[in-house]
Amino acid sequence: MDDKLILKPDGSVALPAELSAGYSTIFATASDAYDINANWVTGELEHRFNRGNNLYDRTRGTDNSSGGGLGPVYAGYSCSSCHKGAGRSKPSTAVGGSENGFSSMLVYILRKNGGYYPEYGRVLHDQAIYGVKPEGRLKVTYTEETFNFPDGEEYKLQTPHYKITDWYAENIAPEDLRISVRIPLRHVGMGQMMALDLDELKRLAAKSNYPEYGISGRLNYITERGIKQIGVSGNKAQHADLTVELGFSSDLGVTNDRYPEEVCQGQSQMMGFANYGIQVSTQDMEDVDLYMQTLGVPARRNVTNETVKKGEEMFYKAKCQLCHTPTLHTRPRGTVLLNGTQLPWLGSQTIHPYSDYLLHDMGPGLDDGYPSGLAAGCEWRTTPLWGIGLQEVVNGHTYFLHDGRARNLTEAIMWHDGEGAASRILFSRMSKEERSALLTFIESL
Ligand code: HEC
Ligand code: HEC
Repeated sequence: MDDKLILKPDGSVALPAELSAGYSTIFATASDAYDINANWVTGELEHRFNRGNNLYDRTRGTDNSSGGGLGPVYAGYSCSSCHKGAGRSKPSTAVGGSENGFSSMLVYILRKNGGYYPEYGRVLHDQAIYGVKPEGRLKVTYTEETFNFPDGEEYKLQTPHYKITDWYAENIAPEDLRISVRIPLRHVGMGQMMALDLDELKRLAAKSNYPEYGISGRLNYITERGIKQIGVSGNKAQHADLTVELGFSSDLGVTNDRYPEEVCQGQSQMMGFANYGIQVSTQDMEDVDLYMQTLGVPARRNVTNETVKKGEEMFYKAKCQLCHTPTLHTRPRGTVLLNGTQLPWLGSQTIHPYSDYLLHDMGPGLDDGYPSGLAAGCEWRTTPLWGIGLQEVVNGHTYFLHDGRARNLTEAIMWHDGEGAASRILFSRMSKEERSALLTFIESL
C-alpha cells in the first residue's frame, strides 16, 4: 500500500510536494480545512471521530443538557471556543485583553519564586458561572515601534504589556507576578505529532548544532504520570500528549478521572460549593483525543507556482529550515499510538511539519520568564508551519507567535532573535521581491 498513488479530488495524481502528511493529506482549502477527517477514517473510527468532534465543539453549560460541568471558573466554554474550526480563534489580545468579555487565550501566572498562588493556581480563569467571580481580568496594551529594512521598506513591531486587574481575592503585587500569555495553537497534524519517531528527534537534537548560525536546539523532558518523557506539544513542548484531560479540567472547569477536583477547589469563594464528581467520561475524552489525531492535514497549494518555488529557495537561503525542519518521519506501522490502538495509517509516514519540535532560545524580546520543564523563559518550541497558509481562511486573522503579538508573517519573522537572529538578518537583507516570495512560500504551506 505504501506506493499507492494518492489522487486529488479532480482525479489527478498528487505531487510529492503537495503531500504534507502522506495518507492523511486532504485537499481542503476552505474554512473547514483543519477540521476534516483523513480519508482512511471510516466505519467505527469515523463514528468515534464524529463523536469526538461533537464533544469538542459542544458549548458546555452548567446544566446536564449541554454536557454540563462548566466552571465554576473557566477560560473557555468549549474546546472550539478557543480552537475555532480546530484552529486558532482570533486572540482577544488584539483588542486589549479579557476586560471586555470572552478571551481565547490562556494566561499562566506564577510567583517570582516559582510557586503558584494558592487562591489562583496555574491559569488565570477570567470567566465564571453565574454567582461566582472570575479570578481576574487581563489587560493588554501595546507599544509600537517602526523599523526599516536595509532597502528602506518599513515594518512595525508591537510589544505587549500585561496587567491583571479585578483579582477576585487577594491583590497580587505586580513585582511578585510572572504572566505568560498564549494564544491557541492550530490543530494541524496532531496525530502525526503523537506518532513522531522520537529517535529521529533525538538524533536531530544531537545534530541540531550550527555554530555558524548560532543555532542549537534541544528536547524538552517533562515528568507526567510519574514517567519522564519527551515533550512535543504546547508552545514550550511542555506536554507529551494532547492534554485532553487538562483541557477539560483547567480550561473548561470540567472534572474528569485524571483531574477529579475542580480547579478552583480550595478557593475561599468556593466554600459553599459541593464537589460535583466526574463531569466528562474517560470514553468521551478518548474520543476527543482520537478526533484530534485522525484529522487530515491540508495539502500544500500552488507548489508549481514560480514565486512559490523562488520563495522556497529563499526559505533555505535564510536558513529557516535549520529549525523549521521540512521533513520528518513517524514511527513504524504497528506501533501502539493511541490508548492501546495502532491507527496504522499514521505509522511509517514521511511528513512535512516544518518543525524540529525542539526548543530554541529566541532572545530577550520573546522571553516570558515562565519556565516549563527544561524550557527557560526565552526558549520556545519551533512552531510547526504546516497549514499556516490557511489560518486566515479558517480563523479570519493573521496573528502569530505564542502570544499573538505578530500581526502578519513579516512581523513574526522579525521577532526571531537569539538562535533565530541569523535567519532574521538574512531575511531582512533580501530584496523586497525575495522577501515577498518567501512569504508566498509560507502561505503555500
Ligand atoms: C481558553 C482557550 C482554550 C480552550 C478552552 C482550550 N484550549 Fe487548547 N490551547 C489553548 C492555548 C492557548 C494553547 C497553547 C498552550 C501553550 O502553549 O501552553 C492550547 C494548546 C492545545 C494543544 C496543543 C497543540 C499543539 O500543537 O501542541 C492541544 C492538543 C489542545 N490545546 C487541545 C484542547 C482541547 C482538547 C480542548 C478542550 C478540552 C482545549 N484545547 C481547550 C487554548 C485553549
Ligand atoms: C532558531 C530556530 C528558528 C529559525 C532559524 C527560524 N524559526 Fe521561525 N520559529 C521558531 C520558534 C521557536 C518559533 C515560536 C516562537 C514564539 O511563538 O514565540 C517560531 C515561529 C515562527 C512563525 C510563527 C508561527 C505561528 O504560527 O505563530 C513563523 C511564521 C516562522 N517562525 C517563520 C520562520 C521563517 C520564515 C524563518 C526563516 C527566515 C524562521 N522562522 C527561522 C524557531 C525558528
